[in-house]
Amino acid sequence: MGKEKIRIGVYPGSFDPLTNGHLDIIMRASKLFDLLIVGILKNDSKQAVFTMEERVSQIERCTADLKNVKVEMFKGLLVDFVREKKAGTIVRGLRAVSDYEYELQMAMLNKHMSPEVDTIFFMTDIHNSFLSSSVIKDIAQHGGNIRGLVPDEIVDEIYAKLMVKD
Ligand code: PNS
Repeated sequence: MGKEKIRIGVYPGSFDPLTNGHLDIIMRASKLFDLLIVGILKNDSKQAVFTMEERVSQIERCTADLKNVKVEMFKGLLVDFVREKKAGTIVRGLRAVSDYEYELQMAMLNKHMSPEVDTIFFMTDIHNSFLSSSVIKDIAQHGGNIRGLVPDEIVDEIYAKLMVKD
């Protein structure tokens, strides 16, 4: 018998910061793979609020119970990272029809560049379908309530970073 192939998936994103929507996708996708790598894009041209180290730590703490989930950062093209990790699948979440065009374009171009890799989509849970990292930052910055929208473990650090002090 040959060596059994392990199924590796990559869930890429900016995660600035992680939301309950992201975490729900991670939990559901982790059931499909032997190893799910959460890939955080290090994008020098896009100013992030949370540093790479903060984002890696946030996701690691919130996924500590999921033993087959690993958090890594990547630079450059997603397909290169996916190939380097010997993964066969890219995972993304779809919240609404408005996500579809951008996601379709990315999936098609990634398939063009790396035909052996497929993208699969999880429909976001209805309770998280209105969530994004941007709205979380906006609400927190103005002292609104982000509890229930992001994992409890990271609520305080989001406020600490963003809340406008008088
Ligand atoms: O959470 P986001 O910001 O919607 O994630 C977007 C991400 C990181 C998945 C996407 O921007 C990406 O894959 N960037 C890496 C560069 C790349 O491969 N671009 C070509 C995609 S067609």
